[in-house]
Amino acid sequence: MTKLIKQNQVNDKILKQAGHIIREGGLVAFPTETVYGLGADGLNEEAIDKIFVAKNRPQDNPVILHVGSVEMAQALTTDDLRPYQDLIEAFWPGPLSLIVNKSDEVPYQATGGLDTVAIRFPRNDIAIQLIQAANRPLAGPSANISGRPSPTDAQTVMEDLAGRIDMVLDGGPTTIGIESTVLDISTPQPQILRPGAITQEDIMAFIPDVTLDASLEDISQRPKSPGQKYKHYAPSKPTALFVGDQDAKLANIKDYLDPKKTYGYMISSELRVRLDLDETAIVYVYGSIEDHKSIAEKIFKTLRLLDKEDIDEIIVEGLDYTGQGLAIMNRLEKSAGGNIIGQKI
Ligand code: TXA
Ligand code: MG
Repeated sequence: MTKLIKQNQVNDKILKQAGHIIREGGLVAFPTETVYGLGADGLNEEAIDKIFVAKNRPQDNPVILHVGSVEMAQALTTDDLRPYQDLIEAFWPGPLSLIVNKSDEVPYQATGGLDTVAIRFPRNDIAIQLIQAANRPLAGPSANISGRPSPTDAQTVMEDLAGRIDMVLDGGPTTIGIESTVLDISTPQPQILRPGAITQEDIMAFIPDVTLDASLEDISQRPKSPGQKYKHYAPSKPTALFVGDQDAKLANIKDYLDPKKTYGYMISSELRVRLDLDETAIVYVYGSIEDHKSIAEKIFKTLRLLDKEDIDEIIVEGLDYTGQGLAIMNRLEKSAGGNIIGQKI
């Protein structure tokens, strides 16, 4: 039985209980500012194993350890975090995970056998209070069955994990909607392994020579982050992603449609006006094509909604790869399983 604690019922007493469940080796899903996480004691090998079973997650895919302070982070690594103090002050708490060399305290279960560990200080009161109540770093992958779109509200966590975990803390819908930026500072050449709301330009203010993992610009390259190589964020229905300028996207979508099939759409308000769809069409508008924040917030939820519609195929409108667009397109490309139509802009 999974206990769902409604948003207005999350109080000190509940958080104490939740912290106790974590200390006893149980699993508690919690809100963060990015997506919901599936929490376990990050120092307890058996508890971490349970995460992999509940999510059906490949064993070699390491998890992020969530901390409630910089001191807690420092204890998990043999690296000195002080040279990164300005970066950390700028983005923690927030959607930035740092890959550093692990200390002996961190079990290999959390790192998928690697000598590095991902650490993040989330910007969400419930998450921070849960970490404090447990007085442990929380192992916290996204709280979905592996491969499915990440959950941005508590109902979606229940949809995937009810009966498999002990508790879900409802903190309302998440504000960012896509997972944290993963930045590897464990080697002399800092590298972004997974793009997120914090962009390369944001990080360059602190690390001018930060680079992007080669696989983010060329999909034939092998990604350094184990999680990036798996099929991900994917609805069960076939999904096609259209990229390019508005005219090209419009023309390509019209060409692609097969009159014998039914479609559901996730598109911008701009394209909505130009695509002449009849009123029975299943259309979810994610906002203006220029509003990256609104798009990031909606993509995972919308993909799940489209998956439940009575349609044969999902049509997704892509956007430009600049700023947060890079992170959004990284998720959408994976959702489409590589079925990308048009020229990237
Ligand atoms: O925003 C987020 O990061 C969310 C919330 C819950 O905090 N968590 C999340 O966790 O997205 P997860 O497990 O779904 O993704 C973690 C990513 C994976 O791609 C994994 O491969 C990568 O981080 N990762 C973790 N440890 C790593 C390491 N030591 N080296 C390289 N990549 C690592
Ligand atoms: Mg995930």
